[in-house]
Amino acid sequence: MRRPDKPLTVLVIGSGGREHALCWKLAQSAQVERIYCAPGNGGTATTTKVENVEIQVMDFLKIEQFCRDSKIDFVVVGPDNPLAEGIVDVLHEKCPDLRVFGPERVAATLEWSKAFAKEFMDSHEIPTARFLVCDSYEAGVKIVQENSWARVIKVDGLALGKGVFVCDTQDQALDALLAIFQGNSFGAAGSRVVIEEKLVGEEISLLTLFDGKRLVPLLPSQDHKRRFDRDQGPNTGGMGAYAPIDLFQARRAEIESLVLEPIEKALRDAAFDYNGVLYIGLMITDKPYVLEFNCRFGDPETQAILPLMTSDLLPLLWACTEGALDKVQVTWSSGASCCVIAAAETYPQGSSRGEAIDLGEYASSTSSVKVASSKNKDHVVVFQAGTKLVDGKLLTNGGRVLAVTGIGKDLEAARESAYKAIKKVHFASMAYRKDIAGRALASC
Ligand code: AMP
Ligand code: GLY
Repeated sequence: MRRPDKPLTVLVIGSGGREHALCWKLAQSAQVERIYCAPGNGGTATTTKVENVEIQVMDFLKIEQFCRDSKIDFVVVGPDNPLAEGIVDVLHEKCPDLRVFGPERVAATLEWSKAFAKEFMDSHEIPTARFLVCDSYEAGVKIVQENSWARVIKVDGLALGKGVFVCDTQDQALDALLAIFQGNSFGAAGSRVVIEEKLVGEEISLLTLFDGKRLVPLLPSQDHKRRFDRDQGPNTGGMGAYAPIDLFQARRAEIESLVLEPIEKALRDAAFDYNGVLYIGLMITDKPYVLEFNCRFGDPETQAILPLMTSDLLPLLWACTEGALDKVQVTWSSGASCCVIAAAETYPQGSSRGEAIDLGEYASSTSSVKVASSKNKDHVVVFQAGTKLVDGKLLTNGGRVLAVTGIGKDLEAARESAYKAIKKVHFASMAYRKDIAGRALASC
């Protein structure tokens, strides 16, 4: 592997909790001199070595100019939209000396078209729920009426985690089709729909890295996608996550042989070159099934797993860009983490803007580059998502506002730390789930 010959200047693209966690972890690397975050948030603005730049994630022209003007060495793309619109292709073409972490547009189709992803899984014998695809309301109705298994309705394109309807009855499935095709609430993303069998089991978010040859799994975690306790309410981007997952260890051999090996082979044989994170959404029933692929780090999974990573993140991402993942060790703390999202109470439909945020004793929890994660001692890191600093005041600026992550010697300790901490932070419309990791602990 070609090691960077000098400490790097890095650009992280995005403004969520995931990007704050990426900046925080990269800032701990001796191989990183400086990080810019475009556009960043209130948290990245106050993280050591990190500076926000006022460039929106879809402004490719400005991103490309900034990379040249600021002599950026390495770009890490956070969110799905710029990947789907080809930011990596643009940077490869316009800035050939730049290293970019993330897949090109065609490879990212695995995330931005659920129909493509399902067909990819089907043709490579990667286990996934039964499905059919339709392009019109009438065709969708026919599928739902003719197939008693057809209960999960998904818009094909990107929808911030909100375009999936997991239904119990035929009527609910028909209502979902109506909302998508006739309510037109998803625009072009909803012009095609995937209709699936409903699977019942435990979910695992398995973030992996693929370097063109090999797939390297990171620490498995579990997201909590529904808005309310006991998995009630609409799907969201994710209301909290914990890591690691005992179920993964228990079913590891099966997950490797039925899922990871076929995926690794499929990516090697694919017509496109895949490079970057492949987030595999798993459902474990009688056997493991793949629910979805994302081509980026998960949010809030990243905020849950990075505080447990004891190795340096920079060489890992760098190695991924040059087919050298076998040359880098990734190590994890033996402890656990629990990340609870503090969201606006109207999220996922609404968001909060301009409310004052009080982080209390956690105001500087990410400002130090001290590697707290190497110890198993209980501690808390408050990552920021929908926030911004205005004249030195921290204000809300989105649906998911904070990601309060407790780290402890085990899941119970991590969860206790997270919930103790979240009671000490405040903004007026703050709401959060009270049961993150609750089911896992109850079943211990
Ligand atoms: P996706 O974006 O495809 O991962 O779907 C979002 C969430 O919807 C998943 O994390 C699951 O909680 C749920 N879901 C998706 N597909 C299915 C399915 N076939 N059966 C049951 N639940 C599903
Ligand atoms: N937490 C789910 C996602 O990042 O897609």
